[in-house]
Parts: sequence; structure tokens; C-alpha cells
Amino acid sequence: MTDPKRTMLSDGTISARRRLLRFGLVLTGAALMAPIARAQTATAPAAGDALVFHEGAQAGREIRPDDLAIGAAPILAWPMRPGTGIIRRDDPDDQVLLLRLAVDQLGPAVLPWAAAGILAFSAICTHEGCNVTDWDVTRALLRCPCHGSEFDPRAAGDVVFGPAVRSLPVLPLACDDGALRVAAGFIDTVGAG
Ligand code: FES
Repeated sequence: MTDPKRTMLSDGTISARRRLLRFGLVLTGAALMAPIARAQTATAPAAGDALVFHEGAQAGREIRPDDLAIGAAPILAWPMRPGTGIIRRDDPDDQVLLLRLAVDQLGPAVLPWAAAGILAFSAICTHEGCNVTDWDVTRALLRCPCHGSEFDPRAAGDVVFGPAVRSLPVLPLACDDGALRVAAGFIDTVGAG
């Protein structure tokens, strides 16, 4: 016959071991995740960054407000730490879409994050992570070529069509002595999910 005291002790010991094992697994997982989280933080656009042309003949040149025409297709950009020349281009999630609209077109949700009608968004679709490359000039909408999700820049990147369910994250901007600068990091998580 089983000794009830021994059973309780045995159950308690196993339970404690399980708790320790689980705790260890959580710690191991956290330790594995930590370098990734630090890397994302280190490269992501941050307050004070300039924005530079992503590709083409002007790649690496700082983008100025007058490079952006009202209603024209967005410019793909990377953030750059001013004064260092270091372009944050190690992580595709750091790609930025810059576009300019008439100030009176901007809704109240996005106006505080715009600078002289210029808006910045993550270039990564929130559905499955494709690059948002298309611009519907007639409707002033950003469009993802993979599954057709459409995002309205006048409404802070809200989804107006397609399978994406999350807005395209906004990157707040400021104009500093005529220079375009990032005012704060992305206001939401970049990428799919
Ligand atoms: S990845 Fe953009 S709509 Fe699917």
C-alpha cells in the first residue's frame, strides 16, 4: 500500500522539478531571443535619423523635402544616422516609404506625424511581409503586389482592401531647419502578423 506522506512528497518534488525545468526553458528561450531583439532595436529607424535614397543613381543621398512632389509615387528610403554616414540597411524591416500629399488631404490620425505633408510608412506589408511597391495615383493608395492589400496614407495607413488586417505602421517625421528627420520610431510592429 502506498504511504500517503511519500506520495505527497513525491508529487511535490516532481512538480517542483517541472516548474524548474519550465523556468529554465523560459530563460533559455529569452536568452536566445535577446540578441535578436537588441539587433532590431539597434538598426530600426530612430529619432533624429535622416532618410536616404534606397537605390539607383542617388542611392545613399539624403532625401530633402523638395525631392518629394505632392501626389507622386513614394520614394523607398533607408534611415541614416546623421553625422556618421552610417545607413541602417542591415534589416529589410527598416525600409521606409516616403510620400507627400497636400496637407489638407491628411486626416487627423496622421497629421501629427507628418512634416509639411510628407509621410513615412514601413515598406513591409502587414499581411505576409512583401514589399509594398505599388502606388495608385488616382486613389492615393499604397498597394501590395502580392495579394492586393491597399493602405490609405491619409488615414495613417489603414487597410482599405485586401487580406491585411493591420495598418501599415507610420514612422513619425519632423522638419528640422528644412531637413527631413525621423521624429520617433515606428508607431506599431513592422511586418506580418
Ligand atoms: S503580403 Fe501584402 S497583401 Fe499579402
